[in-house]
Amino acid sequence: MIAPSILSADFAHLADEADAVENADWLHVDVMDAHFVPNLTLGLPIVQSLRKATTIPLDCHLMIEDPDRWAPPYAEVGAANVTFHVEAAHDPVQTARAIRRAGALAGLSVKPGTPIEQYLDVLQEFDTLLVMTVEPGFGGQAFMAEVLPKVRWAREQVKAGHLRLFVEVDGGIAPDTIEAAAEAGADVFVAGSAVYGADDPGKAVEALRALARGAMPR
Ligand code: DX5
Ligand code: ZN
Repeated sequence: MIAPSILSADFAHLADEADAVENADWLHVDVMDAHFVPNLTLGLPIVQSLRKATTIPLDCHLMIEDPDRWAPPYAEVGAANVTFHVEAAHDPVQTARAIRRAGALAGLSVKPGTPIEQYLDVLQEFDTLLVMTVEPGFGGQAFMAEVLPKVRWAREQVKAGHLRLFVEVDGGIAPDTIEAAAEAGADVFVAGSAVYGADDPGKAVEALRALARGAMPR
C-alpha cells in the first residue's frame, strides 16, 4: 500500500490534494503537537473535515504526548488507522484496545533509536507497526537504511505467525529507497515529498507502487 503524506501538500487545499492521489491506498496524516516533536501541524477538527472531503482511508500518525488520552478520538471521527508512538505512551495496550473499540486499526510507531524486540507481546494488540526511517518531525529528510533490521525483524515475526500486522515505513521513501524497504519486508510505504513534490502526484504513487511490488519478497 502507498500512503502519501499530506505534510508535503498544500494545507490550504487539502481536499484537492487528496483528490490528486485518488489512487492511493491510505492518506497519511501527520499530527504533531510541538512537544513530542519540534513541529506543529494539525489536529482533530481538520481530520474530521478531511474525513468528509475524501473517500481515501485516513492513516493518522500521532506524534504527540499523551496518546493514551488523545488517540482514541481520531478513531471516533473515522480515521481508518490510528498510530501513536511507543515512546510517548503510558499504556499502549489499553490505548490500542480503545482505538479498536472505536472502529479503527491500531498502530504503534517507533523512532529510529527505539528497539522493538522488547515490544513483541505489546505488538500482538496492534494492526500496524510504523517503523520511522527518519527522526519524526519534518518531511524531506534523508532515509535511514540502518533502521531496516527492525523491518526485517517485524516481517520475520509475521512470517513465523507471532504477529499479524502491517509493517509500515515512514520517512525518506522515494524511488531510490522504496525497494530496499520493500525487500526488507515493509508492505505500507508513506511518502510525502516524493509524491507531493512531483509534477503529477498520482503518477508518483503509481511509480512507487510498481517499484515496491517488484522488490517485495514473494
Ligand atoms: C515525518 C512524518 C512523515 C513525513 C514524511 O515526521 O512522519 O510522514 O511526512 O515525509 P517524506 O516522505 O518527505 O520524508
Ligand atoms: Zn508520518
